[in-house]
Amino acid sequence: MKKDLISIADFTAEELAGFFRLAAELKSKLKSGIPHRLLEGKVLALLFEKPSLRTRVTFEVDMIQLGGASIYLSPSDIGLGKRETVADTARNLERWVDGIMVRTFSHKIALELAENCSIPVINGLTDLLHPCQVLADLLTVIEHFDLDPARPDFTGIKVVFVGDGNNVANSWINACARLGVDFTISCPEGHDPDSGIWEAARADGAKPVLLRDPAAAVEGAKVIYTDVWASMGREAEAAERKKIFAPYQVNSALVAKADPGVKVMHCLPAHRGEEITSEVLDGPHSIVLDEAENRLHLQKAVLARLMGRKNA
Ligand code: CP
Ligand code: NVA
Repeated sequence: MKKDLISIADFTAEELAGFFRLAAELKSKLKSGIPHRLLEGKVLALLFEKPSLRTRVTFEVDMIQLGGASIYLSPSDIGLGKRETVADTARNLERWVDGIMVRTFSHKIALELAENCSIPVINGLTDLLHPCQVLADLLTVIEHFDLDPARPDFTGIKVVFVGDGNNVANSWINACARLGVDFTISCPEGHDPDSGIWEAARADGAKPVLLRDPAAAVEGAKVIYTDVWASMGREAEAAERKKIFAPYQVNSALVAKADPGVKVMHCLPAHRGEEITSEVLDGPHSIVLDEAENRLHLQKAVLARLMGRKNA
């Protein structure tokens, strides 16, 4: 298994299923009050160059519940790539800690950290990918559609991503390639997902679909997924994007065109009244808080597998 989690595409279907199985086991242990201190004494450094609620809190709680500890480093603490090189930061950190989680802008920084140290580096979001989010989302799909976490078969579960072809969408395309997820994206022209990731998925035999019309895209959807129209770092484009993306709002009218049992997902934070209405976000189809909760459980499995004993 790869030492780092930079992309879902770096893992086999079996390895990914291993994360889901262990996450389900650790979730059930937590709910039953059974200790699962698989990382006793281990320390994870958390490098953040962008804001966070879910990622920071879940990784910190993960390390506490696994018997280890974490150290939060804010953008002003280390100035990744500015105060010293990314490689030098990695070479120093590996002398003190057992793993690094990084949230940054350029995907290259996450890769450079990973290449320059022997400890695991976990991608907590880059401009290109958000693998921990989509793995937690997949665990949520597994639970809601009653799939076997150890051998999930996503056949027949049509996932439709409506909105910006961003980091979360790109990680969904990786999942489509590795796990055979039936994935459609509906986005305005000029806001497509990364072409390299799209082509790599197709070369691997996956068949992601792109449809401009959101109403046509959600036909038969079992999952509708959305995310903010202006990701972190693109705030200056927010006003212009509101106009471009207006037809892509996930509202009750759009949800009504999907399968009657459709689940609505959003990685959060949500911009209510923009990419999703409050009626849908707080409505009966929404499973967004289950996704948020599953960040905790899924990441625990990733941390235990990458930082812990090989047989965790
Ligand atoms: N979904 C997610 O990654 O949330 P944060 O930006 O709050 O970490
Ligand atoms: N696409 C969003 C995800 C936030 C968790 C962003 O990058 O801001």
